[in-house]
Amino acid sequence: MFSVKRLVESGNCYQSIPLEYVFETNPNDDCTNITDTADTIPTIDFSLLTSGSPEQRSNVIQSIGKACLEWGFFMVINHGVAKTVIDEMLRASKSFFDQTEEQLQEYAGKKLFDPIRWGTSFNRAVDNSFFWRDYLKVHVHPHFNAPQNPPGFSEILQEYCKRSREVASELLKGISKSLGLEESYINKTMDLESSSHQLLVVNLYPPCPQPELAIGLPPHSDHGLLTILMQNGLQGLQVHHNGSWVSIDPLPDSFVVNIGDHMEILSNGKYKSVLHRALVNGGATRVSIATAHGPPLQKVVVPAPELVHRENRPPAYRGIKYKEYLELQQSSPLDGKSCLTHV
Ligand code: SIN
Ligand code: FE2
Repeated sequence: MFSVKRLVESGNCYQSIPLEYVFETNPNDDCTNITDTADTIPTIDFSLLTSGSPEQRSNVIQSIGKACLEWGFFMVINHGVAKTVIDEMLRASKSFFDQTEEQLQEYAGKKLFDPIRWGTSFNRAVDNSFFWRDYLKVHVHPHFNAPQNPPGFSEILQEYCKRSREVASELLKGISKSLGLEESYINKTMDLESSSHQLLVVNLYPPCPQPELAIGLPPHSDHGLLTILMQNGLQGLQVHHNGSWVSIDPLPDSFVVNIGDHMEILSNGKYKSVLHRALVNGGATRVSIATAHGPPLQKVVVPAPELVHRENRPPAYRGIKYKEYLELQQSSPLDGKSCLTHV
């Protein structure tokens, strides 16, 4: 298997990209415009959620609810994860890909639930064209796994993943409250304390000689309840909003958080998972690190009965085991929200 990184380093695509990387926009895609960045995702001050006055906390919960309703995305600042942890996590993750292809092969061609998987594009067996992206995927919770190299990677990975679960847990309390549920509702009913499923995905987007022809990741929504994303300061992420693509310019050291498909199911469609995509650029390697926070793999997520009764709206989604949902999503071409099953 050839990674994009290796393709670029080989000098074989110095001026133009191989044809199989040319991305054809889906003709049904209604959102081809790109807005300027004046209108962008809301910013949430996490410190007010965890240590603000009751009034500040209630205001920030309202802002989270509004962000979930209107954007499905928000930026989190003052999250309390040390800058040294973020910097080291980005550095170590990037250097994972600097190992020789021989070393990386140990993790190539793996299956979805193998603990550690290195690859390129999304799923080359079914992708219509190839994406300008290499990846490392690690199942990090409830059982922690990590590659042995580079030295020190495992330790920082473990620390970062633990901290991101703590941030997710607090955000899920705020989201529960914003839905009019008890603070601990989602964490408890989804068994997150002991056995949440957390998948770490490191995306590496090498510089691309024809960035307007290729794509890093096509429009898709995320599985799981919540995704927390950090990135190395380069633009690339775009969010679908009111029929346009909005470029996200993250504040330094902030996290971008988005609603996943299973939150859409749990909230009975009140909070929607939103399409997003990753563009590539001609100048530098972009790195993004996503952690997907989901329920235990064996959990069947259905619309919360409390919301169904209170709002007198019948359940709009069919329940499916998280594990089966993941299998379905990861074995189909990555394309929009095709895996959510409505009743
Ligand atoms: C993702 O959607 O998983 C990653 C998006 C990004 O790289 O910004
Ligand atoms: Fe995503």
